[in-house]
Amino acid sequence: MNSPTALPAWRKLQAHYAQISPLHLRDLFREDPGRAERFSLSLEEIVFDYSKNRITNETLELLLELARQADLSGWIQKMFAGEKINVSERRAVLHTALRNPRGSSVLVDGKDVMPEVHAVLAQMRQFSEAVREGKWRGYTGQPIRDVVNIGIGGSDLGPVMVTNALRPYHSSLRLHFVSNIDGTQLTEVLRDLSPETTLFLISSKTFGTLETLTNARSARAWFLEKAKDPAAVAKHFVAISTNEKAVVAFGIDKKNMFPFWDWVGGRYSLWSAIGLSIVLAIGMDRFEELLAGAHAVDEHFRTAPFEKNIPVLMGLLGVWYNNFFQASTHAVFPYDQYLAFLPAYLQQADMESDGKHVQKDGTPVSVTTGPILWGAPGTNGQHAFFQLLHQGTKLVPADFLIPVQSHNPLGPSDEHHRILLANCLAQTEALLRGKTADEVRTEMEAAGLAADDIARLTPHRTFEGNRPTNTFLFRKLTPRTLGSLIALYEHKIFVQGTVWNIDSFDQWGVELGKQLAQLILPELSGEPARKPHDASTERLLRLVRSRI
Ligand code: F6P
Repeated sequence: MNSPTALPAWRKLQAHYAQISPLHLRDLFREDPGRAERFSLSLEEIVFDYSKNRITNETLELLLELARQADLSGWIQKMFAGEKINVSERRAVLHTALRNPRGSSVLVDGKDVMPEVHAVLAQMRQFSEAVREGKWRGYTGQPIRDVVNIGIGGSDLGPVMVTNALRPYHSSLRLHFVSNIDGTQLTEVLRDLSPETTLFLISSKTFGTLETLTNARSARAWFLEKAKDPAAVAKHFVAISTNEKAVVAFGIDKKNMFPFWDWVGGRYSLWSAIGLSIVLAIGMDRFEELLAGAHAVDEHFRTAPFEKNIPVLMGLLGVWYNNFFQASTHAVFPYDQYLAFLPAYLQQADMESDGKHVQKDGTPVSVTTGPILWGAPGTNGQHAFFQLLHQGTKLVPADFLIPVQSHNPLGPSDEHHRILLANCLAQTEALLRGKTADEVRTEMEAAGLAADDIARLTPHRTFEGNRPTNTFLFRKLTPRTLGSLIALYEHKIFVQGTVWNIDSFDQWGVELGKQLAQLILPELSGEPARKPHDASTERLLRLVRSRI
């Protein structure tokens, strides 16, 4: 396996970076009238404009060469074919199979997984229709009004993000999410709910996650306090997991379990039965549209030549900034309130996948890996942290996402959405162009400012510009488009991980904190320490114990 720095294209890119970094995007656009057209691609109802990046034709050629030398097409084939590319866990990586249409087949260990995938989708359809149509009744015969998904990480963030994004498609069922072990969240969610009309989805791939199981037990206790009869649990608790034994041990009947498989990574699982809360919210037909949107991107990713392949270009641009410009973060700004949770969702997808310090073979990486991903919906961010993007000293490559049509036209001629659109376009333009000292001076002279004020203010009012952005412009936030957008990011993450030669599908880094918490927990109740702590932790523990 090749470390990226050993690839000839890497060295060429280093030399090329020295030529590119002094160039300004303003000049690149001025000198090349075809740039906007050429550096733009369309897929489904999404336009991906990547022309506002600090690249030339040569940059792209070198980045594409890097992808070829990293054997990206080989790794893509391996992923889709069900090979065990999650090397540290010896698992296949097949979230793409979850959105395959009927009639396809994907083999894992010689067994076709597609019949099971479609059997679970059928189970989800049947169950969700019964609940949504009021045929599934609670223990007192009433239909379900509220659904509470209890899960964390990948068993929460995908469903939270998608159910929020697709609010215009919701039925009257009310959706709630509990992830945090902080009892406040469960308490606040349950405050206004009635056990008679509430359905709990206990979502956990492993069914061993402390937060989820503790929340699930407390939810069951809350339920039984009113229902009294343990037999009633079957009408109000279902489980979504790969671990049937643990589900049964928890007390949930096998027939109330929706299975999935170890080849679905937690952060890639919203397409599986983990998406049941989504299905309950929007219905199975809409969920299938979400899957179809993702599948269309899978086909594009699998078959389009790299130079026309959106996730490939997204990933290579990520590598360009992360490793050559040394940009340590990547921002995502959805100009759509419905996508408010997209940055949080992508944070897990990207940072848990590509936040790695060793290569696939366990040797240390020779390059920096995954960026810190962050973001917030526009226009809010503009009035908070955009100052740093425009005039700070750090380079923050950013994605701007915006629908052309709103689900909620408001004001004369859809005034709200027009203002939103104008702001989104204006920000990427401002980040590109900046404002020169000459422009600033001319502006102040026209406004009649005194000469010494002009001299004093010019540096403060000057914008360097040359800040790179991608724009994702789509018609409207539909289930299909959302499915496509998520899949684009999933594959981008894979492209980056492939170039960095890391395992993007394990997450050992979350284990240490879990183990230490298990050691500390009994000490809070006065048990002696099983292992010594550092002096700071020791002291904090004493303080906690003295105040508990
Ligand atoms: O601790 C991290 C993690 O393992 C994530 O990868 C996963 O999405 C989350 O915990 C929840 O895990 P589970 O679905 O098994 O409860």
